[in-house]
Amino acid sequence: MNVDTVSGRLVVVTGAGSGIGAALALEAARRGAAAVAVLDVDLTTAEQTADAIRFADTGAAAVAERCDVTDALALRRLAEELCAEHGAPGLVCANAGVTAAGGPLLEADLADARWVFEVNFFGVLATLQAFGRPMATSGEPGRLLVTGSEHSLGLPHAGAGAYTASKHAVLGVCEALRAELPPHLGVSVLCPGLTASRIWASGSRRPAQFGGPAEAQPLAQQVIERGMSAEVVAARAFDGIEAGHFLIPTHYNARSYADARTAEAAEAFDRLGEIDTQSWDVTEVATAIFTELAAAESETHIEPT
Ligand SMILES: NC(=O)c1ccc[n+]([C@@H]2O[C@H](COP(=O)([O-])OP(=O)(O)OC[C@H]3O[C@@H](n4cnc5c(N)ncnc54)[C@H](O)[C@@H]3O)[C@@H](O)[C@H]2O)c1
Repeated sequence: MNVDTVSGRLVVVTGAGSGIGAALALEAARRGAAAVAVLDVDLTTAEQTADAIRFADTGAAAVAERCDVTDALALRRLAEELCAEHGAPGLVCANAGVTAAGGPLLEADLADARWVFEVNFFGVLATLQAFGRPMATSGEPGRLLVTGSEHSLGLPHAGAGAYTASKHAVLGVCEALRAELPPHLGVSVLCPGLTASRIWASGSRRPAQFGGPAEAQPLAQQVIERGMSAEVVAARAFDGIEAGHFLIPTHYNARSYADARTAEAAEAFDRLGEIDTQSWDVTEVATAIFTELAAAESETHIEPT
């Protein structure tokens, strides 16, 4: 689907107080959005992004709201309010995400992994449901953008296992949505590589039930600060959205991880060879069952002569 879903429409961005989310919110305004909902668990930074949008003088209205994507009920209420005021969004960027302390998975603290999934997986799903449902019923063209990662496509580096798994999980969500969404809606998954942001500090906001605030790792900060600028990532994201692409990578170097995954899968199937005479394709099996059931049903309805 290659349709402009941004011009003159509401664009919603979660995690828009910093980094990639702030850049997506600003880029939405530059590309003609009528209003940008700048949502973040940190209202102060959300307001800073909204101020930057107003300062950019694009004509877009900016609405800053405190929003914790792990609170599905609050998200639904906020979605209802925003839709009532601005109409169903043309674009929703489910971008908020966190990373936890690095280290080998066998030694990892499960609380870290649960928190990462709470925000990066359940928070994304809750965002997609809260805004996707009114978008589906509105009948207007729209797009859902999920910020995945190069970690969605392969393994750029070890030591971030739970984060990698959460980013694979949202790729799965997007693939499933692609098959399920009504034709007027599209979905894209943004797969950035190393990007300059404050993600290295995300542990400082870890809630008590997941172990409370965690200390940032100085090396992580140094590495992240050398990343691509979030503005370039956002511009590439919108180019991909405008073209209607499903996968939107932003860093060419990440291609090697994706290629390695694809090549390994191909080699594994080549080793297996075409040794089966029967197919266990789930859709084919389910279709066969439906056909058998329908045939049995019609037999039981044959009127006696
Ligand atoms: N920086 C990178 O190298 C990189 C690379 C690939 C993908 N990503 C992804 O990009 C997205 C944005 O991260 P970033 O790098 O801009 O980091 P960032 O920390 O600069 O921005 C993330 C924002 O999300 C907000 N946030 C955190 N938890 C939240 C919650 N529960 N509810 C609402 N908002 C919440 C934070 O307050 C912050 O403003 C994340 O999904 C991240 O996984 C980042």
